[in-house]
Amino acid sequence: MAVIGGTGHIGTYLTPRLVDAGYAVINVSRSVRKPYQPHPAWAQVEHLILDRDAEESLGSFGARILEATPDVVIDLTCYHLASAQSLVEALRGRVGHFVHCGTIWVHGPGIEVPITEEQPRKPISDYGIRKAEIEAYLLAEARERGFPATVLHPGHLVGPGWIPLNPGANFNPQVFVDLAKGNEVALPNFGRETVHHVHADDVAQAFVQSLANRSAALGESFHVVSPAALTLVGYAGSVARWFGREARIRFLPWDEWRGTASERDAQVTWDHIARSPNCSIEKARRVLNYQPQYSSLAAVREALADLISRGAIDTGGEKLLQSGKSTSS
Ligand SMILES: NC(=O)c1ccc[n+]([C@@H]2O[C@H](COP(=O)([O-])OP(=O)(O)OC[C@H]3O[C@@H](n4cnc5c(N)ncnc54)[C@H](OP(=O)(O)O)[C@@H]3O)[C@@H](O)[C@H]2O)c1
Repeated sequence: MAVIGGTGHIGTYLTPRLVDAGYAVINVSRSVRKPYQPHPAWAQVEHLILDRDAEESLGSFGARILEATPDVVIDLTCYHLASAQSLVEALRGRVGHFVHCGTIWVHGPGIEVPITEEQPRKPISDYGIRKAEIEAYLLAEARERGFPATVLHPGHLVGPGWIPLNPGANFNPQVFVDLAKGNEVALPNFGRETVHHVHADDVAQAFVQSLANRSAALGESFHVVSPAALTLVGYAGSVARWFGREARIRFLPWDEWRGTASERDAQVTWDHIARSPNCSIEKARRVLNYQPQYSSLAAVREALADLISRGAIDTGGEKLLQSGKSTSS
């Protein structure tokens, strides 16, 4: 089996899980990134070192993947319809299962929430539009031409080693520091907009489950998120309580709030709250037996504890008070 991009956020967990499940795994990457955590399973992973962009421009990417003669291909790094199309053409009739990593950003604002996979796609950014095009293409290939594709849509990836999306819906670690220290934090609007995280190991579990439930997964897409989205205000309050504090929150209308943040942070926040994802995992639970091990808060808490312990976030001596993977508030 080939995992394209198997050493990043998802691959850190997915590649070892696949080895543990008995698959012979070939990671396809440029060998620039290293997994966030060591795992003995990496010793059994083969590496096909190539640059997808360079190979695609030569028209040879699909052929390079086929050199590894994989029965299954997991594609974690496809962002353009043309990339998906050329890979499908190369792999057609040659693989038993092809699992593409999508994103919940194929959705724009929800109609009914939690959003199900059945809701019409209304992506609101170039990235979401491209991922929705890829999803539509792969599902049509599967349903109309028998190409064995499945699409998984993760939420905001969380895990030890990188900064999680914070309660201000951006990646500025200062928001966590301010909540830990009891400093006032400004949130846009009423803080009722939502974010929907997922632990990268739960995403890895969903990929493994889609292989284990292949026939039911073919031609289908699945949300892969934690059991529940978070409101920004609820998220901020929970983080403060981890440090024994009550959050001090000031609510500001968007146009005022954006002036309190850097242009970059404001853009990232807008990207997240304009969608305010809140996605259902009922389909993945029912069809794939997806059983996420982390709530959104438990996932963030684990990542935050890791960042603080490594000094990557300096809370000035403020310590996390509670512990436990299942912490939900
Ligand atoms: N980040 C999120 O919160 C989020 C949320 C929802 C969905 N997603 C989806 O998740 C997928 C990304 O997964 P991830 O976050 O685990 O990826 P990632 O951490 O960005 O890792 C990218 C992987 O691809 C490899 N790679 C990058 N450029 C390459 C190239 N030109 N040629 C060959 N290999 C290359 C990297 O290794 P080298 O650098 O060594 O090549 C690495 O193994 C995407 O499909 C994205 O749409 C992400």
